[in-house]
Amino acid sequence: MATTSTNGLGRSIYSYSDLQGFAKQIQDRTSHKPTIGIICGSGLGSLADKVEDSIVIPYSDIQHFPVSTVKGHHSQFVIGILKGKTVICMKGRFHLYEGYPAWKLAAPVRVMSLLGVQTLVVTNAAGAMNKSYKVGDIMLMKDHLYLPGMAGNNPLVGPNMEKFGERFISTTRLYDSSLRKMARVIAKEMGYSHLIQEGVYAMVCGPSYETPAELKLLSVSSDVIGMSTCPEAIVAKHCGMTVFGLSLVTNKCVTDYDETEVDGPNHGEVLETGKLREDIIQELVAEIVAKID
Ligand code: HPA
Repeated sequence: MATTSTNGLGRSIYSYSDLQGFAKQIQDRTSHKPTIGIICGSGLGSLADKVEDSIVIPYSDIQHFPVSTVKGHHSQFVIGILKGKTVICMKGRFHLYEGYPAWKLAAPVRVMSLLGVQTLVVTNAAGAMNKSYKVGDIMLMKDHLYLPGMAGNNPLVGPNMEKFGERFISTTRLYDSSLRKMARVIAKEMGYSHLIQEGVYAMVCGPSYETPAELKLLSVSSDVIGMSTCPEAIVAKHCGMTVFGLSLVTNKCVTDYDETEVDGPNHGEVLETGKLREDIIQELVAEIVAKID
C-alpha cells in the first residue's frame, strides 16, 4: 500500500489502487455520495461546520493518508449535505512547505474524483500585490501562476494515470468562467459586490513570505499571492472536474524598501482576517454550492 509506483524520478507515488484504497476507507464510513469537493483554506475551515448530517473522518483514520501539520489547519474530511448538495470538505489541506511533494498534497483530489466529485471549490488565504485590493476582499480566481509547478513541481509529473486523464492537459481555462459569473451574481444579491475582485493567484512554495523583489516580479502577472491551491486545481482539471477558486485577501504585500512601519505579513494576521470574513465566505460558498448543477 502507498509505495507501489514511482514517478520516474525515483520517488514513490500513490498508485491507482492506493487511491482506490483511500476512497474505499471513506466509503466504508458513510453512505453519502459527494459530487462537490470543497478545500478550506487557512482560517476558513469553519465552512465545513455548515455541513449537515455530516460524518467527520480525520485524515489520521485513513491508513497511509497524509496529515496537515499547520497551525490553524485541521486535518479531517467532513462529508454531508450543504444546501441540498452532497459535499466532501477538506478541513485542512497539505502544502509544499510542509515537505509534501505536489503529487501527494493533491492526491486527495483524486480520491474525491473516485468518490464521484465533479466540481472542486477551493479557497485560500492570500496576500494582495494588486495595490487596489483591500484586506478582506474576496478574489474570484480567473487564472494562476504556479511557480513551483513551472520549476518542475507539477503534481502530474511522473507516469500519467490514464484512468484520470490525458498526459497533456490544457490549463487555459482552468477556473470555470460560468461559476465565476454565478458567484458575482450571488455576491451582488447578498450585498457583497463591494468585496469582490477577480484576478490571478500566484503560488509560491513558502514557508517564508516573499521579498519585495520577488513580489515586484510576480506582480507583473498576478494580483494575489499564496502557498496553495494550484496543485489541487491542476489535478482536478486532469480528472475532468470543474474548478472554482476563491482567495481571501488577508494582507497587503509590502514591496517598498522605505516602508518602515510594516514588516510584511504574519500567520496570525492571516488567520485573523480569515475569522473576520469567515461568515461571509461561508454564506457565499454555500449559495454557490446550492446553484452548482
Ligand atoms: N504571501 C504568501 N502567502 C500568503 C500571504 C502572502 O502575503 N498571505 C496569505 N498567504
